[in-house]
Amino acid sequence: MRITAYFILLTCYFVEVSSYDCSDSYPWKPDGPGKDREDLVCDISCKSFGVEEADCCRCRNCAIWAGTEVDLFVEFVTILGKGVVLSEETYNETNIYKIEHTHSDLTDLPSNICNWDSEPFIRDLYDDEFDNMQSFWPAVVELDFQYNRIRRLQDINCLTKLDAVNLQGNKLTYVSNNSFANLNYIRTINFMNNQIQYIDPSTIGAPTLNILRVDFSYNLMTELDITNVLGLHGYCVIDFDYNDISLFTNKIQYSLNISKTYGPGFSSMKNNQIERYPNLREILRLEHWSHLGKLMEFGFDLRENPINCDCTFLPLMSLSAHIIPVIMREYSATICQNPPELKGRTIHSVGLDRLVCQLPASAGCKKPECLCIDKPNDGRIYVDCSNSGLVIIPDVPYSEYSSNIYLNISKNRLDTIRNVSYLQSIDVIDLSKNDIVEIPSEVAYLLENASIIDISDNLRLKSLPQEFQRRDVCKTFMRNLVIRCDCESTWIQTWAHSRPCNSSYIFFTCDVPDHGLMPALSFNADVLDCFSADYFVLAAWIVGVLIAMVLLSFIAYYFRYEILILYLRIRKLKLNQVVPQYKYDVFISYNDNDDSVRMWVEKTLLFCLKRENYSIFLPNRDLDVGGDRNMEVNAAILNSRNILVVLSDSYMEQNKDGMRQWTENEWKTSWNNFKTYVCKNIVLVNIDHASPSDIDYPPIRAYLRVGCTVSFLNYKRCIIQEIRTKLGPPFRLPELPEVGLRNKNTKPSLIELFVVPTIDKNAVWCQGEDSDEEPCKIYDITSTNRSNDKAFNVRYAQKPGTLKSKCKYRQCYACQHGDDLH
Ligand SMILES: *[C@@H]1O[C@H](CO)[C@@H](O)[C@H](O)[C@H]1NC(C)=O
Ligand SMILES: *[C@@H]1O[C@H](CO)[C@@H](O)[C@H](O)[C@H]1NC(C)=O
Ligand SMILES: *[C@@H]1O[C@H](CO)[C@@H](O)[C@H](O)[C@H]1NC(C)=O
Ligand SMILES: *[C@@H]1O[C@H](CO)[C@@H](O)[C@H](O)[C@H]1NC(C)=O
Ligand SMILES: *[C@@H]1O[C@H](CO)[C@@H](O)[C@H](O)[C@H]1NC(C)=O
Ligand SMILES: *[C@@H]1O[C@H](CO)[C@@H](O)[C@H](O)[C@H]1NC(C)=O
Ligand SMILES: *[C@@H]1O[C@H](CO)[C@@H](O)[C@H](O)[C@H]1NC(C)=O
Repeated sequence: MRITAYFILLTCYFVEVSSYDCSDSYPWKPDGPGKDREDLVCDISCKSFGVEEADCCRCRNCAIWAGTEVDLFVEFVTILGKGVVLSEETYNETNIYKIEHTHSDLTDLPSNICNWDSEPFIRDLYDDEFDNMQSFWPAVVELDFQYNRIRRLQDINCLTKLDAVNLQGNKLTYVSNNSFANLNYIRTINFMNNQIQYIDPSTIGAPTLNILRVDFSYNLMTELDITNVLGLHGYCVIDFDYNDISLFTNKIQYSLNISKTYGPGFSSMKNNQIERYPNLREILRLEHWSHLGKLMEFGFDLRENPINCDCTFLPLMSLSAHIIPVIMREYSATICQNPPELKGRTIHSVGLDRLVCQLPASAGCKKPECLCIDKPNDGRIYVDCSNSGLVIIPDVPYSEYSSNIYLNISKNRLDTIRNVSYLQSIDVIDLSKNDIVEIPSEVAYLLENASIIDISDNLRLKSLPQEFQRRDVCKTFMRNLVIRCDCESTWIQTWAHSRPCNSSYIFFTCDVPDHGLMPALSFNADVLDCFSADYFVLAAWIVGVLIAMVLLSFIAYYFRYEILILYLRIRKLKLNQVVPQYKYDVFISYNDNDDSVRMWVEKTLLFCLKRENYSIFLPNRDLDVGGDRNMEVNAAILNSRNILVVLSDSYMEQNKDGMRQWTENEWKTSWNNFKTYVCKNIVLVNIDHASPSDIDYPPIRAYLRVGCTVSFLNYKRCIIQEIRTKLGPPFRLPELPEVGLRNKNTKPSLIELFVVPTIDKNAVWCQGEDSDEEPCKIYDITSTNRSNDKAFNVRYAQKPGTLKSKCKYRQCYACQHGDDLH
């Protein structure tokens, strides 16, 4: 309830301006630039105001030196009314001074106040006075020249401690914002009863000033800049009563800083020519009305003005009941002069719905065809253009108060509706009794949110836009229309019955092909025998999807091996685990009955791989003669990391006896191994340039298609190199661990080879002695220098599996089957 209390208080201060004398008081400082002053006191009566004490002190304060000022006198020096200030004594720094010369004929401030007068004759003649007075300047606290004939206010910024200026009853016409801009001790200014027509922006409200009482009443001002009533620092009262103010300006584009606190202060503007409450939102370009809350502590008294009680008052009057009296002081006594029907009523007794504005052509109203009334309380602009002979939809005015439009263009000659920018804002539109031929669907879309549309009595209108089906049918008036209800407008049937309307009188008549006229509510699309294209499209769509699915599954089935191979390969690439040791790097599967193949394998391939230290299983060399060939082959393949298939034309052929080749079994076993063991690899060497179509056996065909083969086709390639890359490097004994392990006092024990994903050259992967299940551990070897005994700090480290690697790149490491490695 601070605001209400504040209202009561401010009114009190203002009424009781002279009812305090500070005879009982306590020190006080203003909150603006004068906040360092030590010489002010606040009347004791403010103590009882509690939280409003500061506001009270702004109005009831005194200077402790009041009454002790030493008078300085003014002597005329020209018959034109100029004077100079004189002192009978020399400057005494313990004194303060007051220059007083009232009810006389001064036409200017005395020439030696701030030495403003540069006239040589005066300066020569009164040289001493000019010199002497300078020392007095900083000690002058008051200027009192009331009732003289002073026409100009000079720059008096040299009087740095000036506290009060009284120029009441002079002939000033203009006050500049430079005259006292730096005097931050000024508390009181009285320019009452001059002929002031204009004061600069920021003359009073400048942040450097801390003026508490200002009186500009009884002058001739016609406009008032907002910077002279709103200030950063609080003030008691600024009085502009009895001027001719009708206009509020903001010439220096003053704007509020939302993070600062303004005011408070109270401006009295009684007896002016103000018609409207100053639209602070527009003047200050506030983004939002709520920012006006910043100004909540400024009050205006607008009594005795020709107030026009129109829509501009609505934002103010719809504020909550206890805020209005704070901002608009004495609002309950503010009388409307206009509009005529409200004349003589107090503004607070006018209902909000009567605060309306007639918008003129200059605001965008099409005159004289239309009558535009802004009713902010409804949030609508009422635009009535009915019966005006219009042929196109007119423009409507913009309002900052109302966002919806109520447009009546009935009884005109419109034949279509233009897409105008405000269509989306239309709330009610009456298009009845026009000549409309069609309603474009984009227009119907933009009118989607209109609560009422009346298109009755448009005799040439034969169809409705389908966008209407989303509208409330009961709020769409379509009397006396004859609409064609054919296969394209079957939606009309559903729409007409979409909700029960109170009156069937809103409805049109349907013109149904071959059935004649019938009321819209009786229209039944079944009589039309329409074949809906929609079903056709839907059916086609479903069939399409089915065919696509069948095709897809067929393709998936046909290429199942290719897909499997690709999948397995991707899985191998992502592999992230320890690779077990295999006895052989490569198992070579080939048809040894084919001489050319055998020659190449045994001469070229074998030689090259051996040179690279691959361990190789070659069936016709390594198999026990007389053993069960299939079983041995299966075991060997199980023990091989790679299976190298040398694919020749004869690889899958039956031999002369009609027997199957051994290779068929080798392939099947390899294929199963490939599928089962994630790190195993089949490398296919396509020696006879077989194309996939030549091969009957699906996995091999798939292998050729997917293209992970080494082909003899391309002679530029180094085939052995390519094979080698695909096989990966051979297992190799690492060079380090034996010495290191020995120095850790472990039994020199078996070092076994392991293949692991390569990450860290220093990692050694080991396996427990007794069981193959025990997981590998990583040992960290910090040095690789064999000659240094202490080099091998074999430390127990992470679990395996934390390393990320790809099966493709691997390296062999030693692994110890030792018992104590701690
Ligand atoms: C200044 O004024 C004070 C009191 O008004 C007085 O006591 C003092 O003597 C004066 N000093 C001079 C230099 O006149
Ligand atoms: C003083 O008024 C002039 C216009 O007369 C204006 O241009 C200037 O910005 C004002 N000074 C301040 C500090 O507002
Ligand atoms: C608003 O005032 C705050 C401090 O009160 C200041 O930091 C900020 O810069 C001011 N903003 C503008 C736009 O002046
Ligand atoms: C539009 O104007 C006509 C003629 O003045 C009137 O009969 C009709 O009721 C008005 N329509 C609406 C929706 O107010
Ligand atoms: C209608 O006009 C507005 C501007 O007046 C435009 O932004 C909008 O795209 C137009 N709509 C159609 C469907 O033509
Ligand atoms: C109608 O109102 C809805 C919801 O307020 C809004 O999303 C839609 O854009 C509006 N339609 C038009 C044409 O403005
Ligand atoms: C129908 O009429 C009744 C009374 O006449 C009214 O209360 C009701 O709101 C109306 N309903 C509609 C959908 O117009």
